[in-house]
Amino acid sequence: MSKPIDIMTSLSGEPITAVEQWAYFRRPEIISLFEMFVYGIRPYETPENLTFTQKFRAANWMDSNATFKEIDIGVNNHHFPVYIFVPEQVEGPAPAFTVIMGELRSLKYDFYQSLDYPHLPIRDIVGRGYAVAVMPTNAVSPDWWLNGEFKHGVFRAMQPNAAQRTSHSWATISAWAFGASRVMDYLETDPQIDSRNVAVIGHSRDGKTALWTAATDIRFKLPIANDSGVGGAAYTRGKQGEHLVDISISDWFCENYYRYNSCEDMLPVDQHMLLATIAPRPMYIKDNIEDTWIDPDAEFLSAKLASVAYELYGLPGLIADEKPELNKPYHDGMIAYHVAPGGHDMNTADWHMYMDFADKHLKTPEFFNKALKIG
Ligand code: GCU
Repeated sequence: MSKPIDIMTSLSGEPITAVEQWAYFRRPEIISLFEMFVYGIRPYETPENLTFTQKFRAANWMDSNATFKEIDIGVNNHHFPVYIFVPEQVEGPAPAFTVIMGELRSLKYDFYQSLDYPHLPIRDIVGRGYAVAVMPTNAVSPDWWLNGEFKHGVFRAMQPNAAQRTSHSWATISAWAFGASRVMDYLETDPQIDSRNVAVIGHSRDGKTALWTAATDIRFKLPIANDSGVGGAAYTRGKQGEHLVDISISDWFCENYYRYNSCEDMLPVDQHMLLATIAPRPMYIKDNIEDTWIDPDAEFLSAKLASVAYELYGLPGLIADEKPELNKPYHDGMIAYHVAPGGHDMNTADWHMYMDFADKHLKTPEFFNKALKIG
């Protein structure tokens, strides 16, 4: 494996030794490299014609102590839903998880029918005092297998002429990240949500999206990437399992990225640098030990390498054993990690570990005081 690109050396070759240098120079240049070579440039402005319309609201939905709301988000001529669950036992605004959810349109999930999905145990999450905002990605922009060709969803709403695309135009992961930012715009207007304490979570391609969302929208306080792999948390150079060439069937990345299919080592970035851009915010990386396609070792390596950015802030990055133990939560640093048994999956046990870490970072003293009825 070639030597990892040094997170703490600027493109001009200068060593980065102070938070100011990182925040003003190195971090922005790393983001630009990811825009140019990996995800494409997503629009950052809040669209002028942004609307929020409540389509449905019911208290104590399915005896869950959660208020369920379906909100329609309108971006110019395009609309997509977000499904919100707010815990009723919490007085005042609740911290929240924004869930990037690709499988929703396959009708595996229907919140009008059930709240008990192992992949997304809403009843458990609400029971622990968190709100949930579920964003169905395919409604924001269709995934590659739906042949969207960047002509539908938010692409059409923001950039109607697909012929004007370039080799670094935003691609589908950037479109979903843009959608998540609109969900955050909504959460900021909802008095039941503590919008300064919102995690963004996803599994697999949605985990890649959760990381890029938090890298490009610092309003998200805690990204959680479950089995996110190539273009997510996994260090690409020399990894096992999936490589760029295997992902080239997708349209998740900008055109430039796919040019590196047979020469990954030429890429001017690797994914440890993406994780570093999250600092000093908390972050959670999770793997499944049998998910060799994703490559747990490659994700663990990225998390370790990204720790230098936290250390610059005087914070611990990843604190873990050299070889992480199965099912052991490594929650002491700002980068949390666990590796679960089995293959590609996210389940209720993972969620409880995520919430244990979130309890440390997303629940304010006021939240605990109210829960304990102090003050
Ligand atoms: C494929 C792809 C992965 C991706 C996964 C998913 O396995 O190769 O990169 O993460 O699909 O999103 O389910």
